[in-house]
Amino acid sequence: MSAAADPSNAALAESLLAFWADAGVDAMLLDEPFDRIEAGKVIPPPRPAAPAPLAAIPAVRKSGPPQPDISTALAQAQAAAAGAHDLEALVAAIAAFEGCPLRYEGAASQAVVYRGDPKAPLMVIGEGPGADEDAMGQPFVGRAGKLLDRMLHAAGLQDRVLITNTVFWRPPGNRTPTPAEQAICAPFLERIIALVRPRMLLLAGGASAKSLLKRDEGILSLRGRWLDWRSADGQLELPAMPTLHPAFLLRQPGAKKRAWQDLLALTERLDRPDGPN
Ligand code: URA
Repeated sequence: MSAAADPSNAALAESLLAFWADAGVDAMLLDEPFDRIEAGKVIPPPRPAAPAPLAAIPAVRKSGPPQPDISTALAQAQAAAAGAHDLEALVAAIAAFEGCPLRYEGAASQAVVYRGDPKAPLMVIGEGPGADEDAMGQPFVGRAGKLLDRMLHAAGLQDRVLITNTVFWRPPGNRTPTPAEQAICAPFLERIIALVRPRMLLLAGGASAKSLLKRDEGILSLRGRWLDWRSADGQLELPAMPTLHPAFLLRQPGAKKRAWQDLLALTERLDRPDGPN
């Protein structure tokens, strides 16, 4: 049996591919496949035309109108968000918005805004859409989303939640959205919160927690604590619980216990008869 046909190698290759896909690697770096096992330890000299590693490739605009500067884009986002008087109008406003560079850099198909109950008492805010979300137009529908759903279900929260992200277009290669991209999308996210009026926020992962709470600490020190989220205009204030991102939990299953503790603390507060505070 050849090495490639050996089922244990096939399973290993499949699990490695899943690992890299989770980590956001969805492109090959060489034009032609290169079998390093076949070639033994001999590493070929770098080919002049080989592309740079994914993380080092600056975002390249595929198309689209000239991009406004950040403050113009922010002002446009604020005006568009303020003009949306319900979620349906807001989704349409986001879909029409041309001021976020991610729309032209990472997204292959569409804006991804929210899924779940528009009157939910709990809002989960993740980082940004990935490939599955971009293809399906809904947040958290890939492997990480399936884990999130299982956790919400186990906590009895599956029908009491609206799920969204800090940005509404897929960042290229699933990289973390930049603070500027998050800032441009923030008026829309705040408008979702203002329209839904949840009683509390669950912030999934460091990129969400840092952006929403304006904190610098890492997620491992922020998670599991009740912190205050405030809207930019100071009109809205909500208790927010940062927690570990489900994609991180897929890579580090040993951390699931901590995320589960966070979810239980949140559920206990949500179910308190005297409200969230
Ligand atoms: N990860 C996120 O942060 N959001 C999604 O929608 C999917 C994966």
